[in-house]
Amino acid sequence: MIDREILLEKMKTSPYKPMRAKILQIDPLTDKEKFFRIELEDKINLGHEPGQFVMVSLFGYGEAPISICSSPTDKGFFDLTVRNVGTLTNAMHKLNKGDIVGIRGPFGKGFPVDNMFGYDLVIVGGGLGIVPLRSLIRYVMQNRNDFGNVQILLGCRTPKEVLFKEEAKEWMKRAEIKLNCTVDKADAEWQGNVGLITTLIPGVDINPARTYAIVVGPPIMYKFVIAKLLEKNIPDHQIVVSLERRMKCGLGKCGHCQIEGKYVCQLGPVFTYADLKDFKGECHESRTF
Ligand SMILES: Cc1cc2nc3c(=O)[nH]c(=O)nc-3n(C[C@H](O)[C@H](O)[C@H](O)COP(=O)(O)OP(=O)(O)OC[C@H]3O[C@@H](n4cnc5c(N)ncnc54)[C@H](O)[C@@H]3O)c2cc1C
Ligand code: FES
Repeated sequence: MIDREILLEKMKTSPYKPMRAKILQIDPLTDKEKFFRIELEDKINLGHEPGQFVMVSLFGYGEAPISICSSPTDKGFFDLTVRNVGTLTNAMHKLNKGDIVGIRGPFGKGFPVDNMFGYDLVIVGGGLGIVPLRSLIRYVMQNRNDFGNVQILLGCRTPKEVLFKEEAKEWMKRAEIKLNCTVDKADAEWQGNVGLITTLIPGVDINPARTYAIVVGPPIMYKFVIAKLLEKNIPDHQIVVSLERRMKCGLGKCGHCQIEGKYVCQLGPVFTYADLKDFKGECHESRTF
């Protein structure tokens, strides 16, 4: 059986039972975020789609949804980036290499990668939004000929909060990806743009009919970013957004994540703007990255 089938078999036995997974590597990225490279204990691959998430658990501390930030083409491990905000994430920040965590998933609907083949991509990340986007970017790098021009726009509050700085240099060099980063407040060393992420969009050369825009960030950010992308005439179904809701089961059972009766853990977290328009605004109030 291939890894994906073994994984589905395991999840079918009990989708609520976490699989044991070992931490291979931990790197501090900023004051608040740590990077974790992890392998499932029986060394099978997650077989996820870029944009999907796993439920991560630690005994005594609980469970939380965390986006997978490696590409499905990265074999033998998967990556997570965790911001220390509460009970579980604080406990995760105290873990060491070799420690064991519980993993359920992968869950949710990822970015519609198959539909994007042959299109130009405008990838827009605000703050921790770059985390699920890293999965897509690594996938695109490893399948570069399947996509047209790729432009990444990143926004952060301060230069200290910019994630994957060194890796981003590789994205630009190795995969001919254009990257532009802006911060709300610069420091003495910052040489990039200063201002909100929306200020980067007018300067992007977009052929709307052949462009997919992928947006991940806080609701206030994607609301204004979508407005700018619509001004560029990108069709609603080619604007893709990832939502974050409070989740418990990840399986469409508990109802914690629902917006107007739709379960974000199953139908999303990735939606097109065409889907989002039906949500009448509640998603703009959801707590996100
Ligand atoms: C699809 C998805 C993907 C995600 N990906 C990532 C990721 O890649 N990296 C990452 O760091 N985070 C990610 N998150 C967010 C992460 O799941 C949450 O931050 C999670 O709550 C952290 O768990 P915790 O136990 O550490 O924090 P908690 O103890 O749950 O606390 C987190 C914050 O929420 C507040 N809070 C707690 N309970 C409630 C409540 N009932 N209502 C409102 N506020 C409450 C707390 O006061 C605190 O400020 C993702 C979430 C989703 C849904
Ligand atoms: S998290 Fe339980 S239904 Fe979505």
